[in-house]
Amino acid sequence: AARLPKAYATPLPLPPVRRPRGELIEIAQRSATVEILPGLKTEMMTYDGVFPGPTLETRRGEAVTVRHTSTLTLPTATHLHGGHTPAKSDGWPTDLLVPPGFETKHTEHGSSHGSSHGSSHGRGHGSGHQGMADPEAKVTKGSRDYRYPLEQPATTLWYHDHRMDFTAPQVWRGLAGFHIVRDDEEDALSLPRGERELPLMITDRSFDEDGALRYPAIDPELLGEPGVEDRYMAGVLGDVVLVNGAPWPEAEVDGAQYRLRLLNASNARRYALRLHTDDGKPVGFTQIGSDGGLLSTPAEHAEVTMAPGERFDVVVDFRELAPGTTVEMRNGLGRGRTAQVMRFRIARRASDDVRIPQRLADVPPPETPGGAVVRRWHFRREGVHGRRGWGINGKPFDPAVPQAQVPLESTEIWEFFTDAHHPVHVHLSPFQVLRRGNHGPGPMDLGWKDTVDVRPYEAVRVRVKFERYAGRFLIHCHNLEHEDMAMMAGFETI
Ligand code: C2O
Ligand code: CU
Repeated sequence: AARLPKAYATPLPLPPVRRPRGELIEIAQRSATVEILPGLKTEMMTYDGVFPGPTLETRRGEAVTVRHTSTLTLPTATHLHGGHTPAKSDGWPTDLLVPPGFETKHTEHGSSHGSSHGSSHGRGHGSGHQGMADPEAKVTKGSRDYRYPLEQPATTLWYHDHRMDFTAPQVWRGLAGFHIVRDDEEDALSLPRGERELPLMITDRSFDEDGALRYPAIDPELLGEPGVEDRYMAGVLGDVVLVNGAPWPEAEVDGAQYRLRLLNASNARRYALRLHTDDGKPVGFTQIGSDGGLLSTPAEHAEVTMAPGERFDVVVDFRELAPGTTVEMRNGLGRGRTAQVMRFRIARRASDDVRIPQRLADVPPPETPGGAVVRRWHFRREGVHGRRGWGINGKPFDPAVPQAQVPLESTEIWEFFTDAHHPVHVHLSPFQVLRRGNHGPGPMDLGWKDTVDVRPYEAVRVRVKFERYAGRFLIHCHNLEHEDMAMMAGFETI
């Protein structure tokens, strides 16, 4: 493994920001060599040559087309996580963008490459033969347009790869970026903005001594048998914590309030984040928003617990801290180096006119509606095509067979049951957590969520209303190794 760099020696990078021109944003998916560990080169799959990909900045109700072109050697499917998006642009895992020249080599004769369907050791279910297992799959070559209406409140979304069976290694290799939606309501609040608003994408990775990414894929070419070796059933953890693609970075900040858009984009690692100064004083988080937008009122936390896929929009207050003070962000769920995340260094005193209002947005109270349909989703270990894997309601993912039909515009109660930790993510519409076990929503369950951290043997109830777009969408575990080991189901809105 690579020698680990010193903590807090790398400045915090910020991904480049891209706004639509007209209604268009163009992104080139290509491989690129980037420097993540100082002095070493890492070959990655990227959006526009950078990791994280460019941060897309858009506005509520202003539709954009994101045109992805690909010269990667592998198929991709791009999903806007948290986007209220019509099915055909949602990045269904077999609706692939393939690089020019790919199809002849791998799709038409796909069965000769792969292992999986029905074979005795293939855990996969149509991998390498995308389009064969799913008659409705729409495969495009060279370039693909994703159309996002963005009829949704201001919030932090993110986009990432969602290719069937190979999401985990392709995100690990770099296919992830922020997408921020803004709106007039939020602009009218005096929240920290400009340089005092920091998107922070937290991921973990592992590296070889030459800087190459390490990942225990069964087929490192990512064309044949999907998945990871059995001992990674729980998911793949890295030993290097990256924030915006930099190992344990340091951000130089003013003695002022900052808005942090926290995103856990790790494949499988959960974090419990805390801040404290170099002389041990804790710094709290004021949560203003969740996955799907602002909370109704701010919430104070000493610690923010984040499962893969979740976002927390928080304000931190450095006003009382003298220049030269450092504030370390630590991870209570890590050990040794994975207990460290990043550090802030107060560079100067500064003025600050931020005022967090007690009323942030209109969010309905999380009450159980009378007479709603209750649907149960069991996230459990299953045999998947003769191997160990993960399923939902006893079944591995089958892109051709949705597990539920959900009438549009009706409100349902969805209940998630688990055997292990599973961060449950639902596409299309956000939900509100009603109950966690025998209690009400937990401290990290406030507001509009699209991913909920369901703990082992827990039952979590949410209220969800699917609006506007008919078609097929996904529910899945956002532990990306679990997702690739088939813990995913389609549902159809009708
Ligand atoms: Cu963030 Cu279905 O994914
Ligand atoms: Cu899981």
